[in-house]
Parts: sequence; structure tokens; C-alpha cells
Amino acid sequence: MILKKIENRSAHAGVIGLGYVGLPLMVAIASAGFRVTGIDICPQRITQLKQGISHVPDVANEVLESFITSGQIQVTTDYEVLRELDTINICVPTPLSENRAPDMQFIIAAVQQVAQYLHAEQLIILESTTYPGATEEIVLPMLNARFERGPDSRPAEVGRDFYLAFSPERIEPGNSTYFLANTPKIIGGVTTQCTHITKTFYEQFINKTHTVSSPRMAEMVKLLENTFRSVNIGLINEVALICDRMDLDVWEVIDAAATKPFGFMPFYPGPGLGGHCIPIDPHYLSWKARMYEYHARFIELASEINNEMPKYVVDKTVHALNLQRKSLNDARLLILGVAYKKDIGDTRESPALEVIRLILDKKAKFLYHDPYVETLSLNKQKTYRSEPLTAALVQNVDCVVILTDHSAIDYKWLVEHAQLVVDTRNATHAVQQGREKIIRI
Ligand SMILES: NC(=O)c1ccc[n+]([C@@H]2O[C@H](COP(=O)([O-])OP(=O)(O)OC[C@H]3O[C@@H](n4cnc5c(N)ncnc54)[C@H](O)[C@@H]3O)[C@@H](O)[C@H]2O)c1
Repeated sequence: MILKKIENRSAHAGVIGLGYVGLPLMVAIASAGFRVTGIDICPQRITQLKQGISHVPDVANEVLESFITSGQIQVTTDYEVLRELDTINICVPTPLSENRAPDMQFIIAAVQQVAQYLHAEQLIILESTTYPGATEEIVLPMLNARFERGPDSRPAEVGRDFYLAFSPERIEPGNSTYFLANTPKIIGGVTTQCTHITKTFYEQFINKTHTVSSPRMAEMVKLLENTFRSVNIGLINEVALICDRMDLDVWEVIDAAATKPFGFMPFYPGPGLGGHCIPIDPHYLSWKARMYEYHARFIELASEINNEMPKYVVDKTVHALNLQRKSLNDARLLILGVAYKKDIGDTRESPALEVIRLILDKKAKFLYHDPYVETLSLNKQKTYRSEPLTAALVQNVDCVVILTDHSAIDYKWLVEHAQLVVDTRNATHAVQQGREKIIRI
């Protein structure tokens, strides 16, 4: 029955957690013609969404607004609606705890609610990144415990009475080339029927699906992808540190190596890792590997090198200021870009936060400009506001430190007006005049 409802798109779909992952997903499901209800614990977020205001770059306000106005998308903080849903995608955060272990509290809280309203034929899909085994070790027992009896009083069975799968979200917020619909979806169901129903569901709004043998496999695929990125960024950051000592331009090295049409894929150095995925996900894998008495050395080493990059940026800034007979102590710095990557406003785990902490430690003064981040809170104590990027501002600081290479910035203009620029992203690569003022990593 669920399969039919999915195929004729009469199923009532639900998404739990309406952030960078859940909101675009909800809109994609609605675009295929399904009625969707989004649930989030954050009342402010729900109020905003009800007004058709999107907080993620991949969802335009007009699109959201039209679905909200037509009633095809509804959003709520009230979990009771789970009773009516045929499908539920869980997209809640999976951060690390203080001792860098997986923090599963958001998944557990969401699944507790799902379990409370679980009913026959419901399809539950976990999309939050997690360690291999989590869907079957944590989610499944919670659902089983709640749903002990099937309709004919026999014990309920996953794959027959309800369906459960893990399908990792692979989107990159702000990437306009690859988005939800044209990025193949990995699916690992607990049973073959769970996989089949989940695949049928995603096929309604995603061009290509790829099924794997189990949820554990799908969980591992996601961690491999993000570990691959973390390790390669760690490698290229190390190469940048070596090139610096050898007085070689690492950017020229990478561009030249990238001309090789096979066997090389360019990664670029920067001020460190940021965002909700790359700095965190590999630790889900190393944590689980420890249970198998395996110490994941690549993961730890990459993390160590990547974590050192903010300090390297500050050292570079000290060096740049010294060349002008200035010290960092009391210098006025303009931090350009505090988001963890270009063209989005996400500051989670952003290396800018660590760079700012370090320069404040050295008694420098800082201002920041980021077209996507209006305010920035440091340690929840002090809030800073993005300064308008004027010629007077750029001229009056001792150094501009580019931490995010947002496309909206005119770098030629910036260099023209700045006294000194530390460029951690090669954002100024096309600038020809005033190169003597630029120090790159
Ligand atoms: N951001 C990305 O680029 C990205 C990409 C792929 C995968 N992921 C993974 O997807 C998951 C979600 O990430 P995100 O970036 O969308 O997070 P997010 O912080 O942007 O959004 C999560 C949302 O879940 C809500 N929430 C938390 N607990 C809840 C609960 N119990 N019930 C209902 N809502 C709840 C929060 O209020 C928030 O709105 C994570 O596991 C992440 O690792 C993220």
C-alpha cells in the first residue's frame, strides 16, 4: 500500500529537522507533487518558514513561499503530525561531544518521537551522517521497542510492518552544479523490502539512486566520502607548509599538477576546515574504528594538520606586519569572510573563529566583513556586526586577512585600497596591480 501511495504521490511525507539538509529535501519532495510536513524543534525557524523565509542558499524564498501558501508544505513544532505521515526523513544534527565522540542526542530525541507515533506501513529514513551501525544499533531497537505487535498481534517486523533505511545526504550547500536532484542517492535498507520502498520514494524526485547491501554500508560510504576530503585537504595543507619553507608557490604547483588528466584531483590549502561535516564526520569513523581496536591514523593526522592552519594564518599575518615594521599587538585587522566557505553564511566550525580567537589573544583589534554573515558571536559572549566594505575601512586597517573567498568581493578594488593583504584562499589570483601588498599562504 505504501508503495502505491509513493508511486502515485499521494503519500504524506514528513521531514524532521529543517536545516541545510532538511529544508531543500522538503522542497524537493514537494516539487515532485507530494504533500509534505516539516517538523523542527526551533520555534523561530518554524515562524520564519511559515512566512516563506528560507535560511539556506539552495532554497529561494519565492519557491518556499508558494508551497506554504498553497498548503502543499506545512511546518510545525508539533510532533503529533507524525501520526498522519507515510514517510519520515530524519535530518537532525550529528555533532561531536566534548571528548570528540559522536553526539547522538538529536537522533535519539527525534527517533523517540517517531517511535511514539510509529504506525503500520510507515517508512523511516535516517539521513543524518552517522557511524556504521547506528541505524540498526540505535534507531531500529527504539522503533521495535515501541511497536511490539503488528496488526494481527504477531511481533512487528521491520521490512513487513514498517520500513527503515539509511540514506546519507550528500549535498553541498551553495553548489549550483550538483544539487539534490542530480546527485545520486545512496540507499541501504534494513531489509530488501526497506531498500526497495526507499528507492521508489527517492526515485520520485532524484534522478539516480544507488542501493547498497545494508544501512551500515551506506553509513560507511558517507564517512568514506568526507574522510577522503578531510585527508586530502590535510595533505594539501601540509604541502602548503612545505612549499612555504621552500619558497615555492603552492597554488602554481597545484594548478600545474591539475593539468594531469588522470590520477590527480586538485584540493586547495586554506585557513582550516569548517562546516558541519568535514571536520566532524571522520571522527565518527575513527571513534567506531577504536571499538575494533584500530587507530585511524590518517584521520587523526589530517585533523591535526588542518587544526594547525589557523595558527599558521596568524603567523603569516605577524610576518606580513613585521615586513611593514608593525606588530600584531594593537594592529587593526579586517577579517574578510567569516563563513567556512565561499558564498554561504554558515559559520559552524569556521576556521575564522579560531583565527579571531588567536589574534585577540595577541591583543590585535579586529573588524570583519562578510556579505552573508550579518552578526558573529564569539563564545556566546560578544557579538560583532559585519562592517560595510568601504574604501575608508580598507584603507584604515593595517591588514586585510582574507579567510573566505566570497565571489561578491571585488578583489582588485580591495588590493588597490588595502595597505596589506594576507590571502589564505588565493582569492586575489587575478589581481595584477599591487601584488607586493599580498602575502599568500
Ligand atoms: N550541512 C551540510 O552540508 C550537510 C551535508 C550532508 C549531510 N549533512 C548531515 O545532515 C545532518 C543535518 O545537518 P544540517 O546541516 O542540516 O543541520 P542544521 O543544524 O542546519 O539543521 C538541523 C535542524 O534540526 C533541528 N532539530 C534538532 N533536533 C531536532 C529534533 N529533535 N526534532 C526536530 N528538529 C530538530 C534544528 O533545530 C535544525 O533546524 C547532519 O547529520 C549533517 O552531518 C549535512
